[in-house]
Amino acid sequence: MGLQLNTIIPWGRNLDEYVAMFGLDAQALKLNILDCAAGLASFNAEMTVRGHRVTSWDPIYQFSTDEIAQRIQDTYPTVISGVRANLESYVWQTLKSPDHLGEVRMAAMQRFLEDFPAGLSQGRYLRAALPQLPGSAQHFDLALCSHFLFTYSDQLSQPFHRDSVLELCRVAREVRVFPLLTLSGEPSPFLEPILAELSDAGYNYRIQPVAYEFQRGSNRMLQIYRS
Ligand SMILES: C[S@@+](CC[C@H](N)C(=O)[O-])C[C@H]1O[C@@H](n2cnc3c(N)ncnc32)[C@H](O)[C@@H]1O
Repeated sequence: MGLQLNTIIPWGRNLDEYVAMFGLDAQALKLNILDCAAGLASFNAEMTVRGHRVTSWDPIYQFSTDEIAQRIQDTYPTVISGVRANLESYVWQTLKSPDHLGEVRMAAMQRFLEDFPAGLSQGRYLRAALPQLPGSAQHFDLALCSHFLFTYSDQLSQPFHRDSVLELCRVAREVRVFPLLTLSGEPSPFLEPILAELSDAGYNYRIQPVAYEFQRGSNRMLQIYRS
């Protein structure tokens, strides 16, 4: 069954957040990057104006700019009131308050919406869904996946996670996934079994601390690369 727009809570992070979540240094920013489950992040838009190369894949790109913009307006109050009801689940430092969080997220999503039509026609945004991606093997230097795998461990199965991680490893030479906790802040039960499968399949991996913690306790990313 296809993705239903009315089941999606649109959300998007910005370039600074991507840099922090994935520990991207100047060298990494120059790579040919795939952002998978990219959603309404402004990472692609902000990287493109800086002359970098990012391709964003997500099933949400089947919808029009207007449809996505409407869905943002419809869901924003619910999202922010959910955050207000769980203040202690978050670290309020870089993002100072729910209002500040809302401003930063809305600015990122607005940036995405402005870039989306041009990016679609340039092939920088493409409708694609894990666990089966288009693209040839090793097409990208680096694949990023934020707030999808492990986050939704209560809705997506362990085989889905395994197949998705291996598929990201197929299309990119290196893969980084953040965060490693579920939406409710628990360690994903799928992390350890998937690390074992990666080892069996001949991949190396590291669990790296990163300079990003908004969901309390969530400050580590998984980095996977070939032996
Ligand atoms: C919480 S958003 C994360 C967006 C962005 N990565 C960020 O951190 O700001 C999760 C995204 O996963 C996308 N998604 C849902 N099912 C997917 C699938 N099977 N494959 C890839 N992405 C999917 C949703 O459309 C949504 O945009």
